[in-house]
Amino acid sequence: MSAEVLDRGLVLDAVRVTEIAAIAAWRLVGRGDEKAADQAAVDAMRTALNDLEIDGEIVIGEGERDEAPMLYIGEKVGRGGPAVDIALDPLEGTTLTAKAMANALAVMAWAPKGTLLNAPDTYMDKIACGPGYPDGVIDLDASPADNVKALAKAKGVKPEDITVCVLDRPRHASIIESLRGVGARVYLITDGDVAGVINTADPETGVDLYLGQGGAPEGVLACAALKCVGGQFQGRLVFRNADEKGRAQRVGITDFDKKYVLSEIVRADAIFAATGVTKGALLDGVSFKDGFVHTHTLVMNSSTRTVREVRMKRAV
Ligand code: FBP
Repeated sequence: MSAEVLDRGLVLDAVRVTEIAAIAAWRLVGRGDEKAADQAAVDAMRTALNDLEIDGEIVIGEGERDEAPMLYIGEKVGRGGPAVDIALDPLEGTTLTAKAMANALAVMAWAPKGTLLNAPDTYMDKIACGPGYPDGVIDLDASPADNVKALAKAKGVKPEDITVCVLDRPRHASIIESLRGVGARVYLITDGDVAGVINTADPETGVDLYLGQGGAPEGVLACAALKCVGGQFQGRLVFRNADEKGRAQRVGITDFDKKYVLSEIVRADAIFAATGVTKGALLDGVSFKDGFVHTHTLVMNSSTRTVREVRMKRAV
């Protein structure tokens, strides 16, 4: 493995890891228990990671060591091999899973050691668009309306033809008002902003822009995906109290106001994998048919610019 490019064998390893986590979480779909679903995915993902020939370190995980016994930030996984930073969310969309709603995913990304932003478990203001636009077409510091106008101009359409994905939260009321004020269509999601950001890079979804505040760890995962398909992303950490600033300091962050661009969040080539737990815009969910468990996974490798969809079936 060169310093900046991961071995291609890690593409299939990533698929196996997210498949196993998705299957474990799927057993808990619709059972109303977010924690149990998350724990099942965590256990499965951790076991799978520890079986691999990697020298992995979790940089985006389930939380700090004292609050997350498994897959905590700084935990080492694997049996030895290439040194990788790992960003993961064994179950992205715990509530979606507990309520059997669309778009729950098992997600993971890896990149050469020391190349993923060690983001704290805080919120992040985010803006993202798909590939094919001039650099800097979107700007986190511009108003939502101005971002829509800039994107519409670059796309050669009217602001009314732009669709913006936003998490449906009271904190986003003024963003939504600004977007609707300029005539944009607002596609509200109840959870799952990793998929929300990735949607901007998939013309099938009709989403042009992602805007709003969500988890910082999810921001890093979404960036790893966009790195592979060429979109743009900007993010700024949001701190609600001293404890959250402390979390940032503990992972080495000193500039609390920094606006990060994608290349500062994912600083080398990365591999990203997501397996659907429940069916969504991006992926089918896990299903059991005719004695087989079926999964659907998206896996991308930025060094080769390849995007693969993998369908797996295994006898149960
Ligand atoms: P969980 O899977 O941890 O429940 O996260 C789901 C999610 O919707 C993320 O996709 C998003 O970044 C975050 O929660 C938003 O946080 P909040 O629900 O506090 O607005």
